[in-house]
Amino acid sequence: MKRHLLSLASLDDAAFDRLLRRAHEFARGAAPIPLPGATVANLFFEPSTRTRASFELAARRLGATVLNLDIARSSTVKGESLADTVRTLHAMGVGVFVVRHAEEGSLAAVAEELADARIAFANAGDGGREHPTQGLIDALTLTRRFGDCRGLEVAIVGDLSHSRVARSASQALTRLGAEVRIAGPAALMPEEGAFPGTRVCQSLDEVLDGAQVVMMLRVQRERMDHTGAPDEKVYFKEWGLTESRLAKAATDAVVMHPGPFNRGVEIDSAVADGPRSLILAQVANSVPVRMAVLEWLVEGLAGG
Ligand code: CP
Repeated sequence: MKRHLLSLASLDDAAFDRLLRRAHEFARGAAPIPLPGATVANLFFEPSTRTRASFELAARRLGATVLNLDIARSSTVKGESLADTVRTLHAMGVGVFVVRHAEEGSLAAVAEELADARIAFANAGDGGREHPTQGLIDALTLTRRFGDCRGLEVAIVGDLSHSRVARSASQALTRLGAEVRIAGPAALMPEEGAFPGTRVCQSLDEVLDGAQVVMMLRVQRERMDHTGAPDEKVYFKEWGLTESRLAKAATDAVVMHPGPFNRGVEIDSAVADGPRSLILAQVANSVPVRMAVLEWLVEGLAGG
């Protein structure tokens, strides 16, 4: 049966568990079953370092052919639609499309439009809504660290209103039984109900209190008009994570950030580079997660 990864909610429990299990196996060094006939195209309409590079590395480790379309030099600039770009590359033999797009829901719409084609889509981030593979990375990182996420006290802090990574992380972690709480400046809090199953806190002190995991978020200036963007110094003073603030969390608390992060804005360098930081572990886990996702998508195309 053909598969897409458009959102975490679209994964049933069997698929969610399988992706995490395979990602664990790849992270522990399991040899992939090669997918030599598979062709994967990375279409990134927004900037990326981690997601694009790790999908490419994952595809190569699986023995797939990988194409990185340079969107700024593609026919997109002549007005070609996403659906027509996909049709064009599919005619050349591309089966799996990894797509990052600024417009929320754009990939889901194209997946529906091209429902009859033997194409699988992976959402690599759509607007402020979803970044499902990042949610899987955060779940893998914490499962590897703690063994079990049930009852784990997770604080997610910062610009929640624009954060697709926070939406996907909170979905993945609550699904694994973590207790997720959120806080940020009033102007950057999401609409009510946007983070189901989480507790809303009113201050940094409250959200950090006893947390075992502190996940900091970048202020997404690119999604704000400049009048709405907070002053960086004021933001750091009020919401930045420093070593002294981290002392309010549990004594063995770990720190996460999906990246890219802004030193001295949402996180101090001493914390980001410190012994409790899992930031580079998250990056390292991105390749096995994306190997598991590509393997699953290609298997779906083959009717497996
Ligand atoms: N976390 C994440 O999506 O990073 P990139 O924007 O670098 O891909």
